Amino acid sequence: MINIQEVTKDIYWIGGSDRRLALFENLFPLPKGVSYNSYIVLDEKTVVFDTADISISDQYLENLKTALNGRPLDYLVVLHMEPDHCSQIATVAAMHPELTLVGNVKTFQMMKNYFPETADMKKIVVKEGDTLATGAHTFAFVMAPMVHWPEAMFAYDTTTGALFSADAFGTFGALESSIFADDYDFEKDYLDDARRYYANIVGKYGAQVQAVLKKAAKIDIKFICPLHGPVWRGEHIAWFIDKYQKWSKYEPEDDGIVVIYGSLYGHTASAAEAFAAKLRAKSGKDVKVYDISKTHSSNIIGEIWRVGKIVIFSPTYNNGIYLPVANLLHDMECLTVQNKVIALAQNGTWAPVSAKLMNEKLSTLKNVKIVDNVLTIKSALHASDEEALDVFVDAVTEA
Ligand code: FEO
Repeated sequence: MINIQEVTKDIYWIGGSDRRLALFENLFPLPKGVSYNSYIVLDEKTVVFDTADISISDQYLENLKTALNGRPLDYLVVLHMEPDHCSQIATVAAMHPELTLVGNVKTFQMMKNYFPETADMKKIVVKEGDTLATGAHTFAFVMAPMVHWPEAMFAYDTTTGALFSADAFGTFGALESSIFADDYDFEKDYLDDARRYYANIVGKYGAQVQAVLKKAAKIDIKFICPLHGPVWRGEHIAWFIDKYQKWSKYEPEDDGIVVIYGSLYGHTASAAEAFAAKLRAKSGKDVKVYDISKTHSSNIIGEIWRVGKIVIFSPTYNNGIYLPVANLLHDMECLTVQNKVIALAQNGTWAPVSAKLMNEKLSTLKNVKIVDNVLTIKSALHASDEEALDVFVDAVTEA
């Protein structure tokens, strides 16, 4: 069934949502699905901004055909070459041999690898500041390298103020009944998934996001049209840009505390729960507890981005760090987590060493302070450990 939505004058959303895919990039769970956005401009010339993932190709191609209504497709602008957006390039090119592909030098290097059959098509190679005039609209290109791949770029419509932002300002989560963010309670319906998307997909590239936000600050943005999730418009845009400012500067969004534990048989879990209750009472802060074996690491990474203070409980395992915790620390390192206070608790029935090993890994992160006080549990926490637990709670509260 055709599903075309108007964004603003001459600009239409022709994407679709996928609620069947289990894992985005075969990595990240999608309990609420994901949308793949594509946009068409029906001006004197016709322009499509990006295609869509193969999973929604039927819907996408039906939308495209209907939107064009028999008109030729003049330009296919490729803002991002990751296959969740570019998968239909060869198909669209075969349907519309008249079109001209628009991308930058790196776009076409990647396109040659993915779609060698487009080698002889008409192309326009753009760079920072170049424009594409289509009649009533003129699109200016803004390079956005590493947000999220090297070839990523934005396009800004000087007529409507619409910014086509590729992966930036996107979110996991299918679109519900509207394409506009302000039709939802975004904070309730999407924010956790938007943060999870940001942290796991582009979290590593904070400096590059900052660079592109500086460019964006110089233009009058009336719409943000991302490749995933709802479209932003009007006064709501500033709220989401502020989130991106904080996330890309690795600044906490709130003063909550996140407690993460690994636990083989429940003893470390029990200690973490007792600690969290005391920490909430002592600090007055919102404290959230996560079992690393039950909560996907992408959700925990999202939570790490949200707060400034983290407490990690790990059993000692094979004389090392409990594997799911070790994997999380590796992920934190890859994503260049910064600006955190981290406290460590370890368990070990005969030789607890996980805190020392976690400290060594986390100390390599930028602007991360490890709390000196370490809680050590020998197999299980007992009433006799109450004083040590209180000292640890005090140390975490005051850190
Ligand atoms: Fe949504 Fe980097 O692709």
